[in-house]
Amino acid sequence: MKNKVKRWTSVALASSAAAALVVGCGQTSNTGSGANGSASTSPSSADMVNVAGVQIAKPTHLVNYKNASGTIVWAESFTTGSTASELVSAFEKKFPKIKVKLQVQPSNTDTNRADLTASISGGSPTPDVYMGDVIWPAQFAHSQLAAPLSDYLPASFWTRFSNGLVAGATYDGKVYAAPLFADTAFLYYRKDLLAKYHLPVPKTWQQLQQEASYIVKHGGAKYGFAWQGADYEGLTCDFNEYLADAGGSVLTNGKATLDTPAAKQALSFMRGLITSGVTPQAVDTFQEPQSENVFTQGNAVFLRNWSYAWADSQDPQSSKVVGKVGVAPLPTFAGHGSSGYSTVGGWDLYLNPHTKNLAAALQFIDWMTSPQAQEILAANSEMPTIKAVADSPSLAKYSPVFALLPKVKFVSRPSQTPNYPAVSKAIYDNVNAALAGSVPVAQALKDANQQIQKALSGSGSGGL
Ligand code: GLC
Repeated sequence: MKNKVKRWTSVALASSAAAALVVGCGQTSNTGSGANGSASTSPSSADMVNVAGVQIAKPTHLVNYKNASGTIVWAESFTTGSTASELVSAFEKKFPKIKVKLQVQPSNTDTNRADLTASISGGSPTPDVYMGDVIWPAQFAHSQLAAPLSDYLPASFWTRFSNGLVAGATYDGKVYAAPLFADTAFLYYRKDLLAKYHLPVPKTWQQLQQEASYIVKHGGAKYGFAWQGADYEGLTCDFNEYLADAGGSVLTNGKATLDTPAAKQALSFMRGLITSGVTPQAVDTFQEPQSENVFTQGNAVFLRNWSYAWADSQDPQSSKVVGKVGVAPLPTFAGHGSSGYSTVGGWDLYLNPHTKNLAAALQFIDWMTSPQAQEILAANSEMPTIKAVADSPSLAKYSPVFALLPKVKFVSRPSQTPNYPAVSKAIYDNVNAALAGSVPVAQALKDANQQIQKALSGSGSGGL
């Protein structure tokens, strides 16, 4: 398996209006029942239908959820702000017979996953619906932690989503998650500091390093560049971007390829950011919130973070740099092209197989992927997943990040295997050790390569 590289235009900017959801046709299940009735088995080709560019099994238990009522629990993990409660208020106003209780999950995707895995595998019927990372479908489907949504929703439901997103949520011919928002990584910079020191927005990594060094040396900011270097999934995302930019990939034809010159260039550069003093030493403990905080408190010139960091940086409640921030695609290694890469990130809505209120859960998922909810997300600088909002000219008014998407090169993580958690752990553990200086770059990559190979040959959920 080779990491797929795509331009955003092919992922999400195809045009057309959102399809209307048709409910109540075909078989209709008891709206009060849970989702256990539909076990995941591989469908035969006669039962398949092509939707959103992907072959999926036809629904087996269509649910009429028009009159759904009762209470559901939604597990959400927005890192900051009030987006989740805004969404719930709007939903409850529209569907007064359904109440949604919020269950706040950790912002660290790995801790969040461990927590959900423990409760769902233990048979808990709540949360009924949960926000889950775009890298989870294979593992969650394989381990029966998610119900196959495409068994309950009409095939037409899936045509509302931008190209490529449904394919990413499909495992073994069934769709296990409804795309909620997409995350793209950008370079956030202090435009006031660049202006003060007469420096351009850096286009290459080397230029960023020099400019950051210069500004720090002249007392403009405490740190040059903040990013995510802790021992967790976020580090796999950051490393993946340098790696793709250097011309490498985690896997090539299904084999680990981190013991390569491209991987060495990527990791040596990351380590060099620390040894040169451009990046704080403590970056090897930074996740998204810590790195963002350094920037929004006015202590860094540059920040690598996802789309939502724009909204956070412009929130006067939490940011000291409102009005002083610019955003650009991530830089590239000198000589490697016009702009850098972003790992494909984002979050989906998954259905707990043990839910006791399938109808209300489906109504919630339907509304959360409707134009009304997706506009609320866009207003918080989260990239909408449905064509009706993602392709709308009015999107640009919400955040400058949206206009940059056509310039970004996208690189996926190899998450199509249920063993992805172990593959990623092999990456972030070793990359983190090299960043901390406890293992030399070449050795860390050798170790990562071996451990990825081992993870790929393992079975089950990757042991995490
Ligand atoms: C963001 C991305 C997600 C990624 C995570 C890593 O939340 O949306 O896909 O796994 O960051 O920290």
